[in-house]
Amino acid sequence: MHLILFGAPGAGKGTQGALLSECLGLPKIATGDILRDAVRDGTELGRQANGYMDAGELVPDPVIMGLVRDALHSPDAVDGAIFDGFPRTQPQAEALDKIFADLGRDLDAVVVIEVPDDRIVERMSGRRTDPETGSVYHLKHNPPPPEIARRLMQRPDDEESTVRRRLAVYREQTEPLISRYQRAAVPIHRINGSRGIEQVQRDILGALGC
Ligand code: AP5
Repeated sequence: MHLILFGAPGAGKGTQGALLSECLGLPKIATGDILRDAVRDGTELGRQANGYMDAGELVPDPVIMGLVRDALHSPDAVDGAIFDGFPRTQPQAEALDKIFADLGRDLDAVVVIEVPDDRIVERMSGRRTDPETGSVYHLKHNPPPPEIARRLMQRPDDEESTVRRRLAVYREQTEPLISRYQRAAVPIHRINGSRGIEQVQRDILGALGC
């Protein structure tokens, strides 16, 4: 199964992507995570991406397509993958169509996690990430175990003005892709992302018939 998770920044794509990956036994291809790892490791990719990410802007399409092509050719992804944070632009969606055509694969479904903007800002301000495991928590809605509290990090792009810019970029460049997939007759499942994490997961699995 190949599945795309759409949703504004902070809608819960990473949280649900990790749960779905475990549940469905498919790798999660999260371009944001790959880029953050590259920034942390100080690689050439990280140096190319860092300024765009801190400003809440998109990293150029050719950089992203290199990452996704490699991830989809990996042996882990032969049975499918869950895309989190990709595609984000029209050229990325077109390039993904081409990779699928070359590999003889299809997109099975699109899940759109819907959350109002005011809730997004609250979620971002409480988000904390464990640098050792990559696990994502929220100080109020998904509190971390106390023993790891001291090593948790806040993402540099979670500052409120950057979050607002990321939201604008999502509305302008990424949200229109949903109608593109609708026109291509890919099943679209709209999920209320304002409910609790477990309920959202149940709703997604129910919509996918899993
Ligand atoms: P990326 O990492 O993809 O960020 P994003 O799409 O902005 O999404 P987030 O990771 O911020 O949020 P999320 O939806 O995963 O929410 P989460 O589950 O963490 O991209 C970052 C940057 O990288 C981009 O700005 C861009 O520069 C670059 N980039 C990445 N991909 C790119 C691409 N394809 N092209 C170009 N550039 C690219 O949840 C948020 C918080 O809420 C957490 O604290 C969580 O615990 C909590 N939470 C989750 N669900 C719930 C719930 N149901 N109830 C209560 N709290 C919840």
